[in-house]
Amino acid sequence: MSAAMPAPAPDAAPAPRPDARFLRAARGLPVDATPVWFMRQAGRALPEYRKVRETATLLEITRDAALCAEVTLQPVRRLGVDAAILFADITTPLAGLGIEFDIKEGVGPVIERPIRTAADLDRFRPFEPEAAVAPLLDAIRIVRRESAVPLIGFAGAPFTLACYLVEGGPSRDFVNTKRLMHAQPDVWAGLLDILVEATLRYLRAQVAAGAEAVQLFDSWVGGLSPLDYERRLMPWMTRLFDGLAGLGVPRTHFGVGTAGLLSLQAAAGGDVIGLDWRIALSEGRRIVGDRAVQGNLDPVLLLGPWSGVEEGARWVLEQNDRRPGHIFNLGHGVLPSTDPDQLARLVDLVHDHGASR
Ligand code: CP3
Repeated sequence: MSAAMPAPAPDAAPAPRPDARFLRAARGLPVDATPVWFMRQAGRALPEYRKVRETATLLEITRDAALCAEVTLQPVRRLGVDAAILFADITTPLAGLGIEFDIKEGVGPVIERPIRTAADLDRFRPFEPEAAVAPLLDAIRIVRRESAVPLIGFAGAPFTLACYLVEGGPSRDFVNTKRLMHAQPDVWAGLLDILVEATLRYLRAQVAAGAEAVQLFDSWVGGLSPLDYERRLMPWMTRLFDGLAGLGVPRTHFGVGTAGLLSLQAAAGGDVIGLDWRIALSEGRRIVGDRAVQGNLDPVLLLGPWSGVEEGARWVLEQNDRRPGHIFNLGHGVLPSTDPDQLARLVDLVHDHGASR
């Protein structure tokens, strides 16, 4: 900012910054260097996060705006990434829907009373963002003021949230969820209706507070056949992405194990499609067509020697071949035992690779 410019009022909405690398790449525009950030970049891989966790649980962090903003900004400071992502969990909004849950160390979200019947749907309350997640929205306002890079808001996608709600916790085969989907299609439809509506409200509130992009995490959707995806999920995903279209921010559609679902996911919506490491980036780009892509280094490589990280990262960049519309990321989240120095070195490697065409 030049010295002549008056300081903005403390509560004024910060100016938009469409020239940020991350936002340009999300729109398929040329960039001076490939933008890079990491899913789950805030969290246990960082010593400064572990320090915060000595005095506050994850739920407490997300209920304290200043602490939540601090944890959101930690990886931006340490790693030099091109985007911040709001620190929260995909299950954070469930409390505002009237669903009680806990996050168990080393396990993940656990829901004591899972959703299994039509009567269970009556337990949901309408989601009112300002009442349900006020500290998170305040954290967004703080980060927006303090961060030099764009802030990504996010939510769990309806299928992945439904898996937690129906199974009651992490699951390998999603037996209860798939059984509900097929044996009680009206309950399944009712559950997805509730989740789509709540997610739209949640993400609209995040953008109104200052989030400059949104990402839907459909981490477990790779468990579905293309048939089930198309018939029993896609109409709701389409409604969700259509409902976000008017917000004017890029929408990223992310899933894991989705090589066989990519064309359906891209048809459902999203300006940026997430790719995991099980598909070559060039092949993923071919399938999703005229879209930006995000990915797709195997996060496990970061647990090994730098030579493996370097080889993998260079391959991802070569696969993209300097085309605009690539955001470098891992194919899934940072693993807790990752050495943050490897992450910082990877950021430098991606930036040093240079500009797109
Ligand atoms: O920078 C970031 O991306 C961090 C913010 C973030 C968290 N969870 C915080 C968190 C994000 C984006 C998530 C998303 C999330 N949570 C997903 C989608 C992404 C993915 O990994 O597939 C999923 C499936 C969850 C559910 C969940 N929450 C799991 C599987 C776990 C790990 C359980 C464990 O202890 O290993 C959590 C807990 C969780 N969410 C932690 C963090 C930092 C770790 C626990 C803690 O610090 O108390």
